[in-house]
Amino acid sequence: MLNRVEEIRKSALAACAQAASVKELEQARVKFLGKKGELTLLLRSTGQLPPEERPKFGRLVNELRDELEAAWNQREEQLFREEEERRLQAETIDVTLPGRTIARGSVHPITRIIEETKAIFMYMGYEVVEGPEVEWDYYNFEALNIPPDHPARDMQDTFFITEELLLRSQTSPVQVRVMEKRQPPIRILAPGKVYRADSDITHSPMFHQIEGLVVDRGITFADLKGTLELFARRMFGPDIKIRLRPSYFPFTEPSAEVDVSCIICRGAGCRVCKDTGWLEILGSGMVDPRVLKGVGYDPQEVSGFAFGMGVERIAMLKYGVNDIRLFFENDVRFLAQFGSQGGLLC
Ligand code: FA5
Ligand code: MG
Repeated sequence: MLNRVEEIRKSALAACAQAASVKELEQARVKFLGKKGELTLLLRSTGQLPPEERPKFGRLVNELRDELEAAWNQREEQLFREEEERRLQAETIDVTLPGRTIARGSVHPITRIIEETKAIFMYMGYEVVEGPEVEWDYYNFEALNIPPDHPARDMQDTFFITEELLLRSQTSPVQVRVMEKRQPPIRILAPGKVYRADSDITHSPMFHQIEGLVVDRGITFADLKGTLELFARRMFGPDIKIRLRPSYFPFTEPSAEVDVSCIICRGAGCRVCKDTGWLEILGSGMVDPRVLKGVGYDPQEVSGFAFGMGVERIAMLKYGVNDIRLFFENDVRFLAQFGSQGGLLC
Protein backbone atom coordinates (compact mmCIF):
# COMPACT_ATOMS: atom_id res chain seq x y z
CA MET A 1 0.00 0.00 0.00
CA LEU A 2 2.81 2.35 0.86
CA ASN A 3 4.33 1.64 -2.52
CA ARG A 4 1.10 2.62 -4.14
CA VAL A 5 1.21 5.99 -2.37
CA GLU A 6 4.72 6.60 -3.63
CA GLU A 7 3.78 5.50 -7.19
CA ILE A 8 0.88 7.93 -7.33
CA ARG A 9 3.04 10.68 -5.92
CA LYS A 10 5.62 10.22 -8.68
CA SER A 11 3.23 9.99 -11.58
CA ALA A 12 1.16 12.94 -10.28
CA LEU A 13 4.19 15.20 -9.89
CA ALA A 14 5.37 14.18 -13.36
CA ALA A 15 1.96 14.95 -14.90
CA CYS A 16 1.95 18.27 -13.10
CA ALA A 17 5.37 19.23 -14.42
CA GLN A 18 4.54 18.10 -17.94
CA ALA A 19 1.24 19.96 -18.29
CA ALA A 20 1.94 22.49 -21.03
CA SER A 21 -1.15 24.62 -20.55
CA VAL A 22 -3.61 25.60 -17.85
CA LYS A 23 -6.12 23.33 -19.56
CA GLU A 24 -3.84 20.28 -19.49
CA LEU A 25 -2.98 21.02 -15.86
CA GLU A 26 -6.66 21.06 -14.97
CA GLN A 27 -7.20 17.70 -16.73
CA ALA A 28 -4.33 16.20 -14.72
CA ARG A 29 -5.76 17.68 -11.50
CA VAL A 30 -9.09 15.98 -12.10
CA LYS A 31 -7.28 12.69 -12.75
CA PHE A 32 -5.36 12.73 -9.44
CA LEU A 33 -7.14 15.10 -7.07
CA GLY A 34 -10.68 15.06 -8.45
CA LYS A 35 -13.71 13.54 -6.72
CA LYS A 36 -13.22 10.27 -8.56
CA GLY A 37 -9.44 10.68 -8.86
CA GLU A 38 -6.59 8.43 -7.82
CA LEU A 39 -6.28 9.82 -4.28
CA THR A 40 -9.96 9.26 -3.56
CA LEU A 41 -9.65 5.67 -4.76
CA LEU A 42 -6.61 5.24 -2.56
CA LEU A 43 -8.46 6.47 0.53
CA ARG A 44 -11.32 4.11 -0.21
CA SER A 45 -8.92 1.20 -0.05
CA THR A 46 -8.09 2.01 3.61
CA GLY A 47 -10.55 -0.66 4.67
CA GLN A 48 -8.33 -3.38 3.23
CA LEU A 49 -5.59 -2.58 5.76
CA PRO A 50 -5.28 -4.00 9.22
CA PRO A 51 -6.87 -1.51 11.67
CA GLU A 52 -3.60 -0.50 13.34
CA GLU A 53 -2.10 0.67 10.04
CA ARG A 54 -5.10 2.71 8.98
CA PRO A 55 -4.32 6.01 10.81
CA LYS A 56 -0.80 6.16 9.45
CA PHE A 57 -2.01 5.41 5.96
CA GLY A 58 -4.66 8.09 6.21
CA ARG A 59 -2.11 10.65 7.32
CA LEU A 60 0.18 9.72 4.43
CA VAL A 61 -2.56 10.14 1.90
CA ASN A 62 -3.55 13.52 3.37
CA GLU A 63 0.04 14.72 3.32
CA LEU A 64 0.28 13.64 -0.28
CA ARG A 65 -2.90 15.60 -1.07
CA ASP A 66 -1.39 18.74 0.51
CA GLU A 67 1.85 18.28 -1.36
CA LEU A 68 0.10 17.76 -4.70
CA GLU A 69 -2.21 20.73 -4.21
CA ALA A 70 0.78 22.96 -3.52
CA ALA A 71 2.54 21.64 -6.63
CA TRP A 72 -0.56 22.28 -8.74
CA ASN A 73 -0.96 25.83 -7.47
CA GLN A 74 2.63 26.63 -8.20
CA ARG A 75 2.51 25.13 -11.70
CA GLU A 76 -0.75 26.89 -12.42
CA GLU A 77 0.70 30.24 -11.52
CA GLN A 78 3.74 29.56 -13.69
CA LEU A 79 1.58 28.55 -16.68
CA PHE A 80 -0.61 31.63 -16.29
CA ARG A 81 2.43 33.85 -16.39
CA GLU A 82 3.85 32.09 -19.44
CA GLU A 83 0.60 32.28 -21.31
CA GLU A 84 0.18 35.93 -20.51
CA GLU A 85 3.68 36.67 -21.69
CA ARG A 86 3.04 34.86 -24.97
CA ARG A 87 -0.17 36.82 -25.46
CA LEU A 88 1.53 40.14 -24.79
CA GLN A 89 4.25 39.27 -27.29
CA ALA A 90 1.69 38.35 -29.94
CA GLU A 91 -0.44 41.43 -29.36
CA THR A 92 2.27 44.02 -29.50
CA ILE A 93 0.95 47.25 -31.05
CA ASP A 94 3.01 48.77 -33.83
CA VAL A 95 2.63 52.44 -33.01
CA THR A 96 4.28 53.43 -36.29
CA LEU A 97 1.35 52.05 -38.36
CA PRO A 98 -0.94 54.81 -39.64
CA GLY A 99 -4.31 54.84 -37.84
CA ARG A 100 -7.63 54.17 -39.51
CA THR A 101 -9.63 57.37 -39.87
CA ILE A 102 -13.36 57.25 -39.24
CA ALA A 103 -15.31 58.30 -42.31
CA ARG A 104 -17.47 61.31 -41.51
CA GLY A 105 -20.66 62.14 -43.34
CA SER A 106 -21.24 65.50 -44.96
CA VAL A 107 -24.24 67.77 -45.21
CA HIS A 108 -26.02 67.24 -48.55
CA PRO A 109 -25.51 70.27 -50.83
CA ILE A 110 -29.28 70.73 -51.18
CA THR A 111 -29.72 70.76 -47.40
CA ARG A 112 -26.87 73.21 -47.22
CA ILE A 113 -28.53 75.65 -49.67
CA ILE A 114 -31.85 75.37 -47.80
CA GLU A 115 -30.15 76.10 -44.47
CA GLU A 116 -28.22 79.04 -45.90
CA THR A 117 -31.36 80.47 -47.49
CA LYS A 118 -33.26 80.10 -44.22
CA ALA A 119 -30.49 81.95 -42.41
CA ILE A 120 -30.51 84.81 -44.95
CA PHE A 121 -34.28 85.29 -44.66
CA MET A 122 -34.53 84.73 -40.93
CA TYR A 123 -32.04 87.60 -40.65
CA MET A 124 -34.64 89.69 -42.54
CA GLY A 125 -37.35 88.67 -40.08
CA TYR A 126 -38.99 85.78 -41.95
CA GLU A 127 -40.54 82.83 -40.16
CA VAL A 128 -40.00 79.31 -41.57
CA VAL A 129 -43.18 77.23 -42.09
CA GLU A 130 -43.99 73.96 -43.85
CA GLY A 131 -46.86 72.47 -45.81
CA PRO A 132 -47.88 68.97 -46.98
CA GLU A 133 -46.32 67.31 -50.04
CA VAL A 134 -49.57 65.49 -50.83
CA GLU A 135 -51.85 68.41 -51.51
CA TRP A 136 -55.42 69.18 -52.54
CA ASP A 137 -55.93 70.40 -56.10
CA TYR A 138 -57.65 73.34 -54.41
CA TYR A 139 -54.48 74.66 -52.72
CA ASN A 140 -52.05 73.73 -55.49
CA PHE A 141 -54.17 75.30 -58.25
CA GLU A 142 -57.64 76.69 -57.57
CA ALA A 143 -56.91 78.98 -54.67
CA LEU A 144 -53.92 80.23 -56.68
CA ASN A 145 -56.26 81.46 -59.39
CA ILE A 146 -55.72 78.40 -61.62
CA PRO A 147 -59.20 76.97 -62.31
CA PRO A 148 -59.61 73.42 -63.72
CA ASP A 149 -59.24 74.20 -67.40
CA HIS A 150 -56.67 76.97 -67.07
CA PRO A 151 -53.75 76.50 -69.51
CA ALA A 152 -51.24 77.36 -66.74
CA ARG A 153 -51.75 73.83 -65.38
CA ASP A 154 -49.82 72.55 -68.37
CA MET A 155 -46.72 74.48 -67.28
CA GLN A 156 -46.37 72.10 -64.35
CA ASP A 157 -46.77 68.46 -65.37
CA THR A 158 -48.49 67.28 -62.25
CA PHE A 159 -48.59 63.81 -60.66
CA PHE A 160 -52.24 63.30 -59.72
CA ILE A 161 -53.22 60.81 -57.02
CA THR A 162 -56.99 61.18 -57.41
CA GLU A 163 -59.08 63.82 -59.18
CA GLU A 164 -58.64 66.08 -56.18
CA LEU A 165 -55.36 64.99 -54.60
CA LEU A 166 -51.92 65.44 -56.10
CA LEU A 167 -48.21 65.65 -55.31
CA ARG A 168 -47.73 69.40 -55.01
CA SER A 169 -46.02 70.82 -58.09
CA GLN A 170 -44.89 73.97 -56.30
CA THR A 171 -44.56 75.32 -52.74
CA SER A 172 -47.03 78.13 -53.53
CA PRO A 173 -49.98 76.29 -51.88
CA VAL A 174 -48.28 77.01 -48.54
CA GLN A 175 -48.97 80.73 -49.22
CA VAL A 176 -52.72 80.06 -49.19
CA ARG A 177 -52.58 77.76 -46.16
CA VAL A 178 -50.78 80.46 -44.17
CA MET A 179 -52.98 83.36 -45.32
CA GLU A 180 -56.15 81.38 -44.51
CA LYS A 181 -55.07 81.11 -40.88
CA ARG A 182 -53.41 84.46 -40.21
CA GLN A 183 -53.84 88.16 -40.67
CA PRO A 184 -51.16 90.48 -42.14
CA PRO A 185 -48.40 91.37 -41.54
CA ILE A 186 -47.08 88.07 -42.90
CA ARG A 187 -43.48 87.25 -43.67
CA ILE A 188 -42.85 83.55 -44.21
CA LEU A 189 -40.43 81.19 -45.91
CA ALA A 190 -41.60 77.67 -46.86
CA PRO A 191 -38.96 75.20 -48.08
CA GLY A 192 -39.86 71.70 -49.25
CA LYS A 193 -40.07 69.01 -51.91
CA VAL A 194 -42.17 69.41 -55.05
CA TYR A 195 -42.91 67.00 -57.91
CA ARG A 196 -43.29 67.29 -61.68
CA ALA A 197 -43.17 64.80 -64.55
CA ASP A 198 -40.07 66.47 -65.91
CA SER A 199 -36.49 65.20 -66.32
CA ASP A 200 -33.28 66.39 -68.01
CA ILE A 201 -29.98 67.97 -66.92
CA THR A 202 -31.72 70.98 -65.32
CA HIS A 203 -35.09 69.36 -64.46
CA SER A 204 -35.75 66.61 -61.94
CA PRO A 205 -39.10 64.86 -61.18
CA MET A 206 -38.61 65.61 -57.47
CA PHE A 207 -36.90 68.83 -56.58
CA HIS A 208 -36.95 71.47 -53.87
CA GLN A 209 -38.44 74.90 -53.80
CA ILE A 210 -38.37 77.65 -51.24
CA GLU A 211 -41.45 79.81 -51.19
CA GLY A 212 -41.42 83.31 -49.77
CA LEU A 213 -44.45 85.46 -48.98
CA VAL A 214 -44.75 88.97 -47.59
CA VAL A 215 -48.12 90.65 -47.07
CA ASP A 216 -48.53 93.98 -45.32
CA ARG A 217 -49.70 97.53 -45.94
CA GLY A 218 -47.79 99.33 -48.71
CA ILE A 219 -45.66 96.46 -50.01
CA THR A 220 -44.39 97.28 -53.53
CA PHE A 221 -42.47 95.69 -56.36
CA ALA A 222 -39.41 97.62 -55.18
CA ASP A 223 -39.52 95.60 -51.93
CA LEU A 224 -39.57 92.39 -53.96
CA LYS A 225 -36.63 93.45 -56.12
CA GLY A 226 -34.56 94.70 -53.19
CA THR A 227 -35.20 91.50 -51.23
CA LEU A 228 -34.20 89.22 -54.10
CA GLU A 229 -31.08 91.25 -54.86
CA LEU A 230 -30.00 91.09 -51.26
CA PHE A 231 -30.62 87.33 -51.25
CA ALA A 232 -28.58 86.82 -54.44
CA ARG A 233 -25.65 88.83 -53.13
CA ARG A 234 -25.64 86.92 -49.84
CA MET A 235 -25.95 83.56 -51.60
CA PHE A 236 -23.56 84.06 -54.53
CA GLY A 237 -21.31 86.95 -53.50
CA PRO A 238 -21.37 90.72 -54.05
CA ASP A 239 -20.44 90.57 -57.75
CA ILE A 240 -23.36 88.43 -58.85
CA LYS A 241 -25.57 89.71 -61.66
CA ILE A 242 -29.29 89.03 -61.63
CA ARG A 243 -31.93 89.97 -64.15
CA LEU A 244 -35.67 90.18 -63.80
CA ARG A 245 -37.59 88.96 -66.82
CA PRO A 246 -41.30 89.78 -67.24
CA SER A 247 -43.25 86.56 -66.88
CA TYR A 248 -46.67 85.20 -66.07
CA PHE A 249 -48.08 83.36 -63.08
CA PRO A 250 -51.85 83.26 -62.47
CA PHE A 251 -51.35 84.11 -58.81
CA THR A 252 -49.07 87.14 -59.21
CA GLU A 253 -49.46 90.35 -61.16
CA PRO A 254 -47.10 91.65 -62.37
CA SER A 255 -44.80 88.62 -62.43
CA ALA A 256 -41.10 88.22 -63.02
CA GLU A 257 -38.68 85.36 -63.35
CA VAL A 258 -35.22 85.91 -61.97
CA ASP A 259 -32.11 84.68 -63.74
CA VAL A 260 -28.59 84.55 -62.33
CA SER A 261 -25.55 84.95 -64.56
CA CYS A 262 -24.26 81.45 -65.26
CA ILE A 263 -21.32 80.83 -62.97
CA ILE A 264 -20.48 77.55 -64.67
CA CYS A 265 -19.43 79.19 -67.98
CA ARG A 266 -19.15 82.76 -66.66
CA GLY A 267 -21.70 83.90 -69.19
CA ALA A 268 -19.93 82.40 -72.21
CA GLY A 269 -22.69 79.86 -72.81
CA CYS A 270 -22.83 76.16 -71.82
CA ARG A 271 -25.25 73.25 -71.74
CA VAL A 272 -26.54 74.20 -68.27
CA CYS A 273 -27.62 77.74 -69.31
CA LYS A 274 -28.50 76.46 -72.78
CA ASP A 275 -25.98 78.88 -74.28
CA THR A 276 -27.79 81.93 -72.90
CA GLY A 277 -25.32 82.85 -70.14
CA TRP A 278 -28.20 82.93 -67.62
CA LEU A 279 -30.00 80.34 -65.48
CA GLU A 280 -33.51 80.81 -64.12
CA ILE A 281 -33.58 80.34 -60.36
CA LEU A 282 -37.00 81.59 -59.34
CA GLY A 283 -40.44 82.86 -60.21
CA SER A 284 -41.97 85.82 -58.38
CA GLY A 285 -44.43 88.68 -58.47
CA MET A 286 -46.94 90.82 -56.61
CA VAL A 287 -49.66 88.66 -55.05
CA ASP A 288 -52.71 88.84 -57.33
CA PRO A 289 -55.63 90.72 -55.73
CA ARG A 290 -57.88 87.73 -56.51
CA VAL A 291 -55.70 85.51 -54.32
CA LEU A 292 -55.84 88.06 -51.51
CA LYS A 293 -59.62 88.30 -51.82
CA GLY A 294 -59.89 84.51 -51.86
CA VAL A 295 -58.45 84.31 -48.33
CA GLY A 296 -60.57 87.22 -47.10
CA TYR A 297 -58.01 90.03 -47.25
CA ASP A 298 -58.91 93.44 -48.64
CA PRO A 299 -56.59 94.20 -51.62
CA GLN A 300 -57.29 97.91 -51.07
CA GLU A 301 -55.76 97.63 -47.61
CA VAL A 302 -52.86 95.22 -48.05
CA SER A 303 -50.55 94.10 -50.82
CA GLY A 304 -47.76 91.55 -51.00
CA PHE A 305 -45.08 89.84 -53.00
CA ALA A 306 -44.17 86.18 -53.34
CA PHE A 307 -41.39 84.13 -54.86
CA GLY A 308 -40.59 80.47 -55.38
CA MET A 309 -37.00 79.47 -55.94
CA GLY A 310 -35.53 76.26 -57.30
CA VAL A 311 -33.03 74.99 -54.71
CA GLU A 312 -31.22 72.60 -57.10
CA ARG A 313 -30.68 75.41 -59.62
CA ILE A 314 -29.14 77.58 -56.91
CA ALA A 315 -26.92 74.69 -55.81
CA MET A 316 -25.82 74.06 -59.42
CA LEU A 317 -24.78 77.68 -59.80
CA LYS A 318 -23.19 78.03 -56.42
CA TYR A 319 -21.16 74.82 -56.65
CA GLY A 320 -20.66 74.66 -60.42
CA VAL A 321 -22.55 71.38 -60.82
CA ASN A 322 -23.45 70.79 -64.46
CA ASP A 323 -26.09 68.06 -64.11
CA ILE A 324 -29.01 68.19 -61.64
CA ARG A 325 -29.14 64.38 -61.45
CA LEU A 326 -25.82 64.31 -59.56
CA PHE A 327 -27.67 65.57 -56.47
CA PHE A 328 -29.83 62.45 -56.31
CA GLU A 329 -27.43 59.67 -57.28
CA ASN A 330 -25.93 59.57 -53.77
CA ASP A 331 -22.42 58.96 -55.02
CA VAL A 332 -20.34 59.66 -51.92
CA ARG A 333 -17.39 60.82 -54.07
CA PHE A 334 -19.63 63.63 -55.28
CA LEU A 335 -21.22 64.38 -51.92
CA ALA A 336 -17.93 64.35 -49.97
CA GLN A 337 -16.71 67.36 -51.96
CA PHE A 338 -19.10 69.56 -50.03
CA GLY A 339 -17.14 69.06 -46.80
CA SER A 340 -17.86 67.25 -43.59
CA GLN A 341 -18.18 70.26 -41.34
CA GLY A 342 -21.27 72.22 -40.50
CA GLY A 343 -20.51 75.75 -41.65
CA LEU A 344 -24.12 76.17 -42.63
CA LEU A 345 -24.51 79.79 -41.78
CA CYS A 346 -23.29 82.46 -44.10
C1 FA5 B 1 -43.28 78.18 -59.81
O1 FA5 B 1 -43.23 77.00 -59.43
C2 FA5 B 1 -44.00 79.23 -59.06
N1 FA5 B 1 -44.75 78.62 -57.98
C3 FA5 B 1 -43.00 80.24 -58.54
C4 FA5 B 1 -43.67 81.46 -57.97
C5 FA5 B 1 -43.86 81.54 -56.61
C6 FA5 B 1 -44.06 82.51 -58.79
C7 FA5 B 1 -44.47 82.67 -56.05
C8 FA5 B 1 -44.69 83.63 -58.29
C9 FA5 B 1 -44.86 83.72 -56.91
P1 FA5 B 1 -41.69 77.72 -61.84
O2 FA5 B 1 -42.50 76.62 -62.41
O3 FA5 B 1 -41.04 78.63 -62.81
O4 FA5 B 1 -42.55 78.62 -60.89
O5 FA5 B 1 -40.62 77.10 -60.88
C10 FA5 B 1 -39.86 77.89 -59.99
C11 FA5 B 1 -38.38 77.48 -60.01
O6 FA5 B 1 -38.28 76.11 -59.73
C12 FA5 B 1 -37.76 77.65 -61.38
O7 FA5 B 1 -37.28 78.94 -61.53
C13 FA5 B 1 -36.62 76.66 -61.31
O8 FA5 B 1 -35.53 77.21 -60.62
C14 FA5 B 1 -37.18 75.56 -60.48
N2 FA5 B 1 -37.68 74.41 -61.26
C15 FA5 B 1 -38.82 74.32 -61.98
N3 FA5 B 1 -38.96 73.09 -62.49
C16 FA5 B 1 -37.91 72.37 -62.08
C17 FA5 B 1 -37.49 71.02 -62.24
N4 FA5 B 1 -38.21 70.12 -62.91
N5 FA5 B 1 -36.32 70.63 -61.65
C18 FA5 B 1 -35.58 71.51 -60.94
N6 FA5 B 1 -35.93 72.78 -60.73
C19 FA5 B 1 -37.07 73.23 -61.29
MG1 MG C 1 -40.31 79.11 -64.64
